[in-house]
Amino acid sequence: MPEQKREQWGSKMGFIFAAVGSAVGLGNIWRYPYLLYSNGGGAFLIPYFFAIFTAGIPLLLLEYGMGHKFRGSTPLSFARAGKKWEWLGWWPSITSFIIMTYYTMILSWAINYIFLSFNQAWGSDANAFFFGDFLKLSDGPFELGGMNWPVFFGITAIWFINWFVCYKGIKGGIEKLNKILLPTLIGIIVIIVIRGITLPGAALGLNTLFTPDWSKVMDPMVWIRAYGQVFFSLSLAMGIMVTYSSYLPKKSDINNSTFMTAFANCGFEFLTAIGVFGILGFMATSQGIPLEEVATESIGLAFVVFPQVFSAMGPLGTVFGILFFICLVFAGLTSCVSLTEAFSAAVIDKTGVSRKKIVTFAVLGGYSISVFYATGAGLYFLDIIDAFINSYSIVVVGLLQSIVVGWFIGAHVIREHTNAVSIFSVGKWWEIMVKFVTPTVLIFMLGQSIINEII
Ligand code: PHE
Repeated sequence: MPEQKREQWGSKMGFIFAAVGSAVGLGNIWRYPYLLYSNGGGAFLIPYFFAIFTAGIPLLLLEYGMGHKFRGSTPLSFARAGKKWEWLGWWPSITSFIIMTYYTMILSWAINYIFLSFNQAWGSDANAFFFGDFLKLSDGPFELGGMNWPVFFGITAIWFINWFVCYKGIKGGIEKLNKILLPTLIGIIVIIVIRGITLPGAALGLNTLFTPDWSKVMDPMVWIRAYGQVFFSLSLAMGIMVTYSSYLPKKSDINNSTFMTAFANCGFEFLTAIGVFGILGFMATSQGIPLEEVATESIGLAFVVFPQVFSAMGPLGTVFGILFFICLVFAGLTSCVSLTEAFSAAVIDKTGVSRKKIVTFAVLGGYSISVFYATGAGLYFLDIIDAFINSYSIVVVGLLQSIVVGWFIGAHVIREHTNAVSIFSVGKWWEIMVKFVTPTVLIFMLGQSIINEII
C-alpha cells in the first residue's frame, strides 16, 4: 500500500469540532425531537441513554481507536489489523458515498428554502412542497419528470463547497469549515430555542414532549428506535470516525474525545427538541389544532409544517425561517463533508493518488448522481436507497465491526491502545460491550427489521 505523509488536524479542538460537526446533522434537528415525543417522551430517555452507553460510546471508541491505532482510512485501518478485513472498511466507505449523493439534495432544498423565506414564498398551501411545483415529482420511477432548476442550482452550490473544503484538506479545509460553522450553528440554535420557548403556547409543546409514557419503555420497538437514532446521530458505521481519528497526532486523548463527542451531540439533540416542540406548541395553540396534528418529523417537519409556522409568526417569521434553514444547511454541510472525506480518504490511501485528484473525481461522480435525483424520477430511487441503508447497511456494518474487532482483532488491543494515549482509562466494561452487548442488540435490531419487512 503506498504510504503518504498523513495530514493532521491543527488542534485537538479542531478534531472534536469536525467530529461533532459530522454527528450534528439533519437527524438531530428533524428526527430526534419527534422520536422523543412519539416514543414515550421523558420515558424515552431511558432507552436512549442505555443505547448511548451500550452501543453509541462503545462503537465510537472502537472507531476512534481503530483509526488512531492503525493510522488509516477505514479500509486501510482494517487491512492493517488483518489483510482479510479490508472489505469491512470498504463497505462503510461506499455507503458514505451513496448517502452523500442524496444528503446533498436535501441540503439543496434547504438552500432554496432560505431564499423562499425572505418573502415566505411557499404560499399558504401546506402541501405545496410535495404536490406543488417545488419537487416536480414524476408519476413513477421511469417517468423522468421535469428537471428542477432551483434544486439543480442548490445541488451545484453544495457540491462545490463540498469539493472546495475536501480539496483543501484536513486542517485547511475540514477543520476551518467546522470551526466557523459549528459555533455559528450553536448560536443560531440557541436563538431559535429561546424564541421557541417564549412563544405563546410553547408550554403545551414542552409538556407534551416530556410527559413520560412509561408503558413505552416495555415496547421493544422503542428500544430499537433508540439504538437506531444513536447510531445514525453519531455518524457510526460510515467510516467517518475511523477516518477522522486517523488524522490525530500520535499522542491524543482518544477516551476523552469519545465522551466529548457523544455528549456534545446528545446535548445538541436535546436543545433542538426543546426548540422544535416549543414552536410546535405555539403552532397548535395559535391555530387551535391538536398538537398531534402538527407534530411530525423529517421532510414533513422542515418543509411542510415549519414554513406554515413561520407564516403564522408574522414578520418575525421571516427572520426565523431564514435562521432555521441556514441551520439545516450548516448542520448538513459539516456532515456532508465528513461523508466525502470518509470515501475520498479510503481511495487516496488505496491508490496513493493525490487528494486533489481523488476529491475532484469523487465529487464529479457524486454530483452526477445527485443531479439525477433532482429530477422527479430520482426521488423514487432515493426513498428506496435511504430505507435500505438505514434499516440494514448501518446495522450490519456496526454488527460486523463489533464482532471483528471484539473477537478477531481483539477488543483488548484497541482498549490498551486508547488507554495508553489517554489521560483517563476505560475499564474492562468496554470490552464486554463490544464483544457481547453491542452485537446482541444489533442482531436483535436486524431481526426486527427483517420481520417488519416480511410482515
Ligand atoms: N449524524 C448525522 C445526523 O444526525 C447523519 C449522518 C450520518 C451524517 C452519517 C453523515 C454520516 O444527521
